[in-house]
Amino acid sequence: MEETARLNEMTQLLRQRIARGGPMALAEYMALALGHPKYGYYQQHDPFGQAGDFVTAPEVSQVFGELLGGWCGTVWETMGAPDPFLLVELGPGRGTLMRDALRTACRKDGFQKAARVHLVETSERLRKVQAEALQPFHPVFHAHPGDVPEGPALFIANEFFDALPIRQFERTESGWRERLVTFVPEEDAFRFTLAQGKTHDLQIPAPLRKAPAGSIAEVSLPALALAQDIGGRVSRFGGAALLLDYGATETDGRATFQSVRAHGFHDPLARPGEADLTAHVDFESLAETARAAGARATAPIPQGALLERLGIHARSERLAEGADPADAEAIRAACRRLIDPEEMGTLFRAMAIAHPDLVALPGFDDD
Ligand SMILES: C[S@@+](CC[C@H](N)C(=O)[O-])C[C@H]1O[C@@H](n2cnc3c(N)ncnc32)[C@H](O)[C@@H]1O
Repeated sequence: MEETARLNEMTQLLRQRIARGGPMALAEYMALALGHPKYGYYQQHDPFGQAGDFVTAPEVSQVFGELLGGWCGTVWETMGAPDPFLLVELGPGRGTLMRDALRTACRKDGFQKAARVHLVETSERLRKVQAEALQPFHPVFHAHPGDVPEGPALFIANEFFDALPIRQFERTESGWRERLVTFVPEEDAFRFTLAQGKTHDLQIPAPLRKAPAGSIAEVSLPALALAQDIGGRVSRFGGAALLLDYGATETDGRATFQSVRAHGFHDPLARPGEADLTAHVDFESLAETARAAGARATAPIPQGALLERLGIHARSERLAEGADPADAEAIRAACRRLIDPEEMGTLFRAMAIAHPDLVALPGFDDD
């Protein structure tokens, strides 16, 4: 009952805004549905795990966070082991990834003393879960990445960029037009509509500008701004960022905006506030933006390749050796799920942004 009342309020809020201001940009719809301080999806739900809406890699296996922690430890040493330095996670979920990462990274001499843990999280509800998971490390919370203090830093972001609001544009016979969200009373539903005015080609990612009619371009300005901010920070103060997310290597003109609820896909304009909304990450544009800000950005590689190079098989086998047969099989199955091309191995990609001098990043080629 309480759930229904809340959902009605989210829907009402969107309908009121559309009634007042006309059709809204998809980015505004997405930002409200996910992040509204009262009725947003991440405020209302703990979406993780079998009982929730989706399972993320750190919730599949502790090995995921441990390998990323090893990555951080090695890169920190390559940076000259700065003390202090900022260890920043963007969108930490339940705090599982950071907890597992710290368990491994803190084995390096001096890492624990030097690390200042900063978490970027808008959801008050999830902040409580994260604070509890990471209590020995006294994490400092920020609502926006730009609020993180300056200094040498390592950033980790798993399934964060895909939650940042996107705008969508459709190629019509007469040029590009923005896709907006409107409310259709006869259908009692939110629907897409096209903006009346044309969108200038310069707003469309370069590889798509000449795409055929019917193509969709997706642009996340907050994601590009964040890549610029991270690129600027690591090139000025030293450090690196490891981004893992859904995404193709190249934008191909298809819509990727989607809604996930109870482990299934749904109409992303149905039941706002009740489902996770994401879009594939345009790694190519993020890399270009970070480079323009003075940083080095690697080509994105499949998550499976990164985890294999970081030693997922050896680590999983070590864990399995000490477990009873049923647990050992579960450990191996979780490992397969993270790296198998049919599961999370290639759908997810990893990319690093780093200070130009940090050439030997574990798991990535020196390109
Ligand atoms: C899909 S979850 C990923 C959680 C975690 N990284 C993991 O792998 O389990 C997205 C996380 O980002 C947070 N989040 C989403 N949009 C955000 C935003 N604009 N600013 C800050 N945090 C955000 C959510 O509250 C959640 O913690």
